Amino acid sequence: HLEAVIFDLDGVITDSAEYHYQAWKTLADGLDVPFDRDKNERLKGVSRMESLEIILENSGLSFTKAEKERLAKQKNDNYKLMIQRITPADLLPGIAELLTSLQEQGIAVGLASASQNAALILERLEAGHWFQAVADPGDIRKGKPDPEIFLRAAEMLDVPPCNCIGVEDAAAGVMAIQAAGMKAVGIGSVEQLGAADLLLASTIELTVTKLQKLLA
Ligand code: G6P
Ligand code: MG
Repeated sequence: HLEAVIFDLDGVITDSAEYHYQAWKTLADGLDVPFDRDKNERLKGVSRMESLEIILENSGLSFTKAEKERLAKQKNDNYKLMIQRITPADLLPGIAELLTSLQEQGIAVGLASASQNAALILERLEAGHWFQAVADPGDIRKGKPDPEIFLRAAEMLDVPPCNCIGVEDAAAGVMAIQAAGMKAVGIGSVEQLGAADLLLASTIELTVTKLQKLLA
């Protein structure tokens, strides 16, 4: 039975996935490296430095470690300016209602985001009070699609993975959830997230009943 729901942040709780895309796009344009929304799908759920590697692959450009760190910082500085504008009105449709219902029904809520900016975004959204556990990506050795971050959140909530559901907008995230032994809800398209146990086009379609049915 359903004891906990563990959420990804970017693209699930709020549309910060769009800001990640815009910030990477500005960096790629500046380097004259081709980058589009299709390629961006591969960046979802993936750490900052791994994302940079994906952008630079086949670019013919090579950078030292220090230069790469400078590029990643440039992207993050730009991204941080964008997320300053986030307010509670930027919670994706239905998320506030869902988190409130989960709370009312005594179902635990956790966060499993690879983003170092997750705490800041939760603060901007005034959403921190809904989460009993926020896994620290700085503490995680292997990123998504490895299950580590979802397992960490479940452990923090003291709930066995088989009684958890994970919610993701990234293919790597759906793989991570399932590898953790949890059911995966995908928010997005069948092309990207066909492997999900339940696929929804939008967060507005998420209800506690649907989540409970998935574990029934
Ligand atoms: C999430 C996003 C990725 C992002 C990663 C790291 O997983 O889906 O697109 O690259 O977090 O975010 P950060 O804010 O630490 O650069
Ligand atoms: Mg995401």
